[in-house]
Amino acid sequence: MKKNVLITGANRGIGLETAKQMKALDYEVILTSRNADEGERVARDLGVRFHQLDVTSAKSISALKDHVDAEFGRLDALINNAGILLDRTDGILNLPEEKLRTMFETNTFAPLMLIRAFLPMMLEKNYGRIVNVSSQLGAISNFSNYTPAYRLTKLALNGITLMLADAVKGKNILINSVHPGWVKTDMGGAGAPLGLEEGARGLVWAATLPDDGPQGGFFQDGKRMDW
Ligand SMILES: NC(=O)c1ccc[n+]([C@@H]2O[C@H](COP(=O)([O-])OP(=O)(O)OC[C@H]3O[C@@H](n4cnc5c(N)ncnc54)[C@H](OP(=O)(O)O)[C@@H]3O)[C@@H](O)[C@H]2O)c1
Repeated sequence: MKKNVLITGANRGIGLETAKQMKALDYEVILTSRNADEGERVARDLGVRFHQLDVTSAKSISALKDHVDAEFGRLDALINNAGILLDRTDGILNLPEEKLRTMFETNTFAPLMLIRAFLPMMLEKNYGRIVNVSSQLGAISNFSNYTPAYRLTKLALNGITLMLADAVKGKNILINSVHPGWVKTDMGGAGAPLGLEEGARGLVWAATLPDDGPQGGFFQDGKRMDW
């Protein structure tokens, strides 16, 4: 039986490329996107399944969970890829509160809610790989006042990775944070040094770890990073 993988924010950028690479590894890909028309179109072009998902909507997460449960009865890998960066021109002292809250909803709370929705299925089968797509900008060892909210959301996401790894200790469920590198996407911009293929590679690595793979780490392209 094919393993399956669910990817959030997969209508473009690193998420879409990850869907391509996972399909090439013969995974059953559930591509999700908040815009149904766009998601359906790219999923059709790629020959993978599609389901609508706005990661900030509890109703949307619940509908997706019911769908995956009814269709497969399990989820082998979850890639929390959807993310936003809205505060390139703001500092910590003038960052609008609304931006701070919106970014935490998408980058931090949503991955946690998705994990909480799908973890019971993983625990039931005693198999799961969870990838929290983080960023080097969230490494506290390297903090500055540039993109303050984005940094905080990814720092907190890394905290979630550590806590969940502890919560599933002893189970065959491996959860890790992955920094894709600075990648040419709408978010990364045209000046980024890495292409999509290289950016998605580290996510695919973490989603397909063997049973003795690492747990609760922070990686880029399979190599450990400082928190
Ligand atoms: N590119 C880089 O250099 C870089 C570096 C470090 C980390 N990252 C991380 O890598 C991940 C992917 O980034 P990217 O560069 O591929 O960005 P991107 O091209 O801007 O794509 C972001 C994706 O997230 C989706 N998204 C945003 N809010 C959503 C929501 N509420 N529900 C569902 N989907 C939502 C977007 O959907 P819409 O099309 O509907 O907006 C889009 O598919 C992010 O977590 C980002 O923080 C990127």
